[in-house]
Amino acid sequence: MKVTVVSRSGREVIKGGLELNDSATVAELQEAIHKRTKKFYPSRQRLTLPLPPGSKERPTVLSYKKSLKEYCDGNSGNLTVVFKDLGPQVSYRTLFFFEYVGPLLLYPVFYYFPVYQFLGYKGERVIHPVQTYALYYWCFHYFKRIMETFFVHRFSHATSPVSNVFRNCAYYWTFGAYIAYYVNHPLYTPVSDLQMKIGFGFGVLCQISNFYCHILLKNLRSPDGTGGYQIPSGFLFNIVTCANYTTEIYQWLGFNIATQTVAGYIFLAVAFFIMTNWALAKHRRLKKLFDGKDGKPKYPRRWIILPPFL
Ligand SMILES: NC(=O)c1ccc[n+]([C@@H]2O[C@H](COP(=O)([O-])OP(=O)(O)OC[C@H]3O[C@@H](n4cnc5c(N)ncnc54)[C@H](OP(=O)(O)O)[C@@H]3O)[C@@H](O)[C@H]2O)c1
Repeated sequence: MKVTVVSRSGREVIKGGLELNDSATVAELQEAIHKRTKKFYPSRQRLTLPLPPGSKERPTVLSYKKSLKEYCDGNSGNLTVVFKDLGPQVSYRTLFFFEYVGPLLLYPVFYYFPVYQFLGYKGERVIHPVQTYALYYWCFHYFKRIMETFFVHRFSHATSPVSNVFRNCAYYWTFGAYIAYYVNHPLYTPVSDLQMKIGFGFGVLCQISNFYCHILLKNLRSPDGTGGYQIPSGFLFNIVTCANYTTEIYQWLGFNIATQTVAGYIFLAVAFFIMTNWALAKHRRLKKLFDGKDGKPKYPRRWIILPPFL
């Protein structure tokens, strides 16, 4: 089979095209492109079918698992594919690891080291119990996230653009340092003992629930990440589509009830905004995938993220 690889402007990316076996898969085509270009390893490549000139439709993206024949449309001898360079990629595990390791390491710096003296504070620093518990709570949260990244989540996307590492690290690292600065500040005023206990108690319960939600999501896929998207069910998923985001939001609420800083509540508001948008998209996708037609199950009626509001 002759495969012609062109750019979006129609320029030939591989001079003279590629000769592949008739039974070759898209993955094999990607390997063949990599061999000829060196720079464009498979996860950097996005291959689509060409569209007629002026078409406003979305192009069909070639799945690496499928055979090239499936995209040939009867003319099995020739195939033209459109190549796009997605730029340097990192695995999702690497992306998440760098996101979470920042807050995990930065927060204790404000607790253990004389940061405030260095910043000009002259008085003695008295550490309140709530500041110590907040350190444990915070570190447990990010340690849990790193462990889940490596041992629980079954990602469907292999990689993400390197630029996302910088964007996501800027978000998590900046908020981590911002909250740590205020919670550990020598002039920090603790809340009452009862409020602290309610906040942390509720927060820990939500963190455990969040972990259980991730286990339920993990069980929807096989270990190699295949299985696509399924209807999550069991525990809070019977009521809300994104129970994992719901418990994540509530565990930050627990942390904020116990520590009570403006910085913490700003982070909660931003995280709520981000996760609400993602939850809406995930809810729409599940409703579209499971529309009850052609023998597919119908997605049941559920809240999206925060019953009874959304
Ligand atoms: N504080 C914050 O600002 C913030 C923001 C976002 C997330 N988080 C936390 O980080 C966690 C991970 O978030 P995330 O958005 O990366 O992932 P996610 O949507 O919570 O999903 C976790 C894993 O489950 C898979 N999954 C989700 N829905 C599925 C379904 N219906 N069928 C099969 N598999 C499914 C995902 O697959 P895919 O690989 O296909 O997505 C992913 O591998 C969240 O649950 C939350 O605790 C925090």
